Amino acid sequence: MPSRDRRSGPRRISRVFPESARPPVCHSRFITGDAVASSPSSRKGAGQGARKHGASKSSAGWLKEHFDDRYVQRSWQDGYRSRASYKLMELDEKDRLLRPGMTVIDLGAAPGGWSQVAAERVGPKGVVIASDILEMDALAGVAFIQGDFTEEPVLEAILAALGDRPVDLVMSDMAPNMSGMAAIDQPQAMYLVELALDLARRTLSPGGRFLAKVFQGEGFDAYLKELRGSFGRVVTRKPEASRARSREVYLLAENFRG
Ligand SMILES: C[S@@+](CC[C@H](N)C(=O)[O-])C[C@H]1O[C@@H](n2cnc3c(N)ncnc32)[C@H](O)[C@@H]1O
Repeated sequence: MPSRDRRSGPRRISRVFPESARPPVCHSRFITGDAVASSPSSRKGAGQGARKHGASKSSAGWLKEHFDDRYVQRSWQDGYRSRASYKLMELDEKDRLLRPGMTVIDLGAAPGGWSQVAAERVGPKGVVIASDILEMDALAGVAFIQGDFTEEPVLEAILAALGDRPVDLVMSDMAPNMSGMAAIDQPQAMYLVELALDLARRTLSPGGRFLAKVFQGEGFDAYLKELRGSFGRVVTRKPEASRARSREVYLLAENFRG
């Protein structure tokens, strides 16, 4: 079990990865792949600017793909902060995740696409507590805590914001800054979902649900097994808005045993 007594430094977990494999805390900025980095009016400028300042062919390609993406374009039209909003909407439509009055924790929330959807759907009687290592512009109905979730004070701030309110849904869309090297990226990603699961176990009410983005690779099967130990049912989801080439899938764990 993760230890809970550290005031700073990476939180300990050892269920999936041994201590020696624990990834370093990464404070660099994150390329989420989902953020709506620019408005339509800045589209041209963003691409041109990138090239003018010597962006590589691959980043110019990334920008083109991003701006041509239909979910990015929809998010501009619909006023969502990221294309990730459509993943959550799709998951919600299938699995009825969000209901008025619910208390929801949103981990890896910036720039706020999921939080927007959650706040709309839980309504004024609901509570959304969001957290990210990056800054996030304020959103009505969302309490935001900025900080590295691998650090104990951030966990404590989330727990303090919750008070004794039972949680209905913990969601994690956290993703580390991908280097492209599976041996580095996968342990970092698994570490974040391990910590998210730890928070879910500590805060969910019996019967509650946990939704996490998990990357297929080393540690995935062990994590799935762990989820099955704490929840009555676990299903895998790959929303249409999730890029087919991405190894990400969403695990939805239901009926927390408490
Ligand atoms: C795919 S993005 C989330 C998109 C978001 N769900 C949305 O709808 O706009 C992944 C997020 O995970 C965050 N993240 C990665 N590592 C983190 C950490 N150690 N602590 C907190 N947030 C982290 C990144 O900053 C990034 O904003």
